[in-house]
Amino acid sequence: MTLEEYYELIKPYTDAMNLILTRLGIMDHDTYEKEDFRPIHSITNRIKEKESIENKLRKKGSSGSVPDAKALLKDIAGIRVVCFFEQDIRHLVGSLKKQADLILIREKDYIKTPKPNGYRSYHIIVGVPTYYMNSMEYYPVEIQFRTISMDLWAAMEHRICYKAQPFNEIEMRNAFRQYSEILEKMEKSFEVYSENNEVSV
Ligand code: GTP
Ligand code: MG
Repeated sequence: MTLEEYYELIKPYTDAMNLILTRLGIMDHDTYEKEDFRPIHSITNRIKEKESIENKLRKKGSSGSVPDAKALLKDIAGIRVVCFFEQDIRHLVGSLKKQADLILIREKDYIKTPKPNGYRSYHIIVGVPTYYMNSMEYYPVEIQFRTISMDLWAAMEHRICYKAQPFNEIEMRNAFRQYSEILEKMEKSFEVYSENNEVSV
């Protein structure tokens, strides 16, 4: 695809992503009554770069055309929501699913069922309606919900294991599986402290 085609392609995905970002912002100060207890720690977002779109399409056996990108890729628009605790994720996902104009395209709960390497995260792809003069089309936005500890693990794993071929791979993989469990335990105890605090405040 040409650069012009790329910019034209990403326009509605950018609009769809911005709409979800606005809604997440509202949900952040609406989930809990107390102002100090917001569920979201931080949010990042990105539109997939041209080269990255083309590489992914190539892997799927496509020549890299705009119609193929629209048909085959569901993660052109991506948002990562980092929360404090798993409960926060459950609350946010629950509210998001209640928003009647959005459609659920795909959902992967790697918190309930972590990947064999220890990756934990909750992925949901929603379709966001975009209205034109005479028609309406849904555009997918991939939202990854993680806690701070899940995000720490994923960032390190991505840096150390995902891309490079580590020298002592088996040892490293075992270590990461263990770290995933350790981080989960740590987070659960922080959650208990947090709940106890809430009661006593
Ligand atoms: P993709 O081709 O990567 O989109 O595969 P998929 O459609 O099967 O997606 P999945 O929902 O499993 O994962 C998509 C995204 O989640 C990736 O692009 C990463 O951002 C993240 N992810 C998934 N698995 C891992 C993992 O093992 N480690 C890390 N660090 N990130 C992961
Ligand atoms: Mg994907």
